[in-house]
Amino acid sequence: MAFPQSFLDELVARSDIADVVGQYVALTRKGSNLFGLCPFHNEKTPSFSVSPDKQIYHCFGCKKGGGVINFIMEIENLSFPDAVRFLAKRANMEVPEEEQGRESQLRARILALNRDAARFYYQCLQKPEGAAVAEYLNRRRITRQTAVRFGLGASLDQWDALIQAMTHKGYSKTELLSAGLAVQGKNGGIYDKFRNRLMFPVIDVRGDVVAFGGRVLDKSEPKYMNSQETLVFSKRRVLYGLNLAKKSKRPNIILCEGNIDVVTMHQAGFDNAVASMGTALTTEQTRLLSRYTKELVLCYDNDNAGQLATARALEILDNSEFSVKVLRLPQRLVDGQYVKQDADDFIKFQGPEAFDRLLNGSENGIAFRMTQIAGRHDLGDDEQRVAYCEEVSDLLAGLENAVEREIYTTRAAQAAHITPEAMKLEVQRAFKRRLARDKRQRQRQELNPAAALQPKERDLRYTNVRSAMAEEGIIRLLVLDEGLFPQEAPIQPEQFSSPALGHIYGTLLQAREAGRPLSVAALAGELNTEEMGLLTNLLQKPVSLANGVQALEDYITIVRTEYDKRSGQGTMDPLLAAQEFRKRKREGKQEL
Ligand code: GTP
Ligand code: MN
Repeated sequence: MAFPQSFLDELVARSDIADVVGQYVALTRKGSNLFGLCPFHNEKTPSFSVSPDKQIYHCFGCKKGGGVINFIMEIENLSFPDAVRFLAKRANMEVPEEEQGRESQLRARILALNRDAARFYYQCLQKPEGAAVAEYLNRRRITRQTAVRFGLGASLDQWDALIQAMTHKGYSKTELLSAGLAVQGKNGGIYDKFRNRLMFPVIDVRGDVVAFGGRVLDKSEPKYMNSQETLVFSKRRVLYGLNLAKKSKRPNIILCEGNIDVVTMHQAGFDNAVASMGTALTTEQTRLLSRYTKELVLCYDNDNAGQLATARALEILDNSEFSVKVLRLPQRLVDGQYVKQDADDFIKFQGPEAFDRLLNGSENGIAFRMTQIAGRHDLGDDEQRVAYCEEVSDLLAGLENAVEREIYTTRAAQAAHITPEAMKLEVQRAFKRRLARDKRQRQRQELNPAAALQPKERDLRYTNVRSAMAEEGIIRLLVLDEGLFPQEAPIQPEQFSSPALGHIYGTLLQAREAGRPLSVAALAGELNTEEMGLLTNLLQKPVSLANGVQALEDYITIVRTEYDKRSGQGTMDPLLAAQEFRKRKREGKQEL
């Protein structure tokens, strides 16, 4: 534990959740709860609730939830210790820093190591050993000045050049492994993860080197090696180049696909380019971007993967606060053949002015999707025109803005050579189809209550719903009326069928034993985001404390019976049981 528990309890007590959340979300009272628009997903009607009594927040839409520290971690994109410091500052409390735990010490060491490694790679690039990478940069027309701005470097064609240099500076083997800079070999030794590659340090918006990407110098595979997820790096939360793009004077941010695209775009004067590192755009990244701009330009490669990435990004950004444009890179004619090109190619062959023209002429997301649909149909063919109208009307029926709907309906009518009135009718029909589809979906869910009981996170799925419901009940009672529980725990966490619920229950028991207040908010350091969401979700379900004693007894009987069925008669697949055990042990959750 990084901070003394008494300090955390006091911090939570002094940070009222309604006040803290109220600074980010407009809340209105409904009964004993407050409601507002969820800041963690895009929505038009409020499903985000704050309970001042329980001091928790919970979104009925995206199922995120937790206490005040979780809220700050999520919304400010901070680690647990940093969220604690953030709130402490707000509450005017001094943070007992000397109590820093092992984890935050390791985090600090990894950041220092990453910085030293970046410096090492950078220096190698200037030396004769780095000549291959320097030549590669020449070939890609990346100037020295640009390389310096991005801190580009060279990993050498040796097994342990970095390890040697960093060990010399006092870093340990464990630290090198934890930073993802070294890899464990078969015979216990370690070797450099990045070898003979062009190195891109990944720097976050605070200026910390959180990871590396390494590109090969030839056509071999894999083309890129990126750092694994570490204590300081989560690829969902980082955008390559944002440390520089956030200072750009341009009004928008351009999202492109590759590190090289970012580098060459900056070099050509588009210092507002960023890239996600080989993943589709995430909601965490959009939240990060929203601090710096309200206008995004998607500029993915013009191949199939790029089109798919564009469609997925548009989905994430649907009905969001951003205005979104799509920049279409044209294919390039080479020897009578059209070939794909990325932003880097385009700037190299057509120049920055041509790119600027594309940027100014880029279409918005709706137009992009309409063009895509049109591209799938031959509008000279009557039958296909009908199919086009049907598909495009489906898209238009989903637009919430009436003016937009009108404008694009007219445009679609023109494309299909029909009257705007006919297109409008088609859109209305599509709207009705949509409503019917939603209704069917709701009915299906109602007919299948077991599915509705399952947590949203796939990894947390209950294998035994009957037992899990009782386990949820036990936790609910423990949080809401601790007095129902005897001093001695009436049931053990190991008897729970759901590892996540067992872990939550065990954590609550430990807190109780330590004589701490059983508040959800104070558990932020011990439960992960998914477990927190699970906990706040189960706390939303109805509970009758009047019958608490009887309810608790019933729940315990169910969990015990199901547990006995599993262990006593050996009905649980032993292979599965062993797997489960190993998994929990790895996560440090298995009490031996
Ligand atoms: P080039 O233009 O081909 O030099 O590269 P690029 O930097 O533009 O990258 P590209 O468009 O090919 O890939 C987009 C991003 O996906 C890269 O920046 C990497 O972060 C990631 N990526 C690409 N290839 C791989 C791979 O083989 N493995 C992993 N883990 N990530 C990759
Ligand atoms: Mn590229």
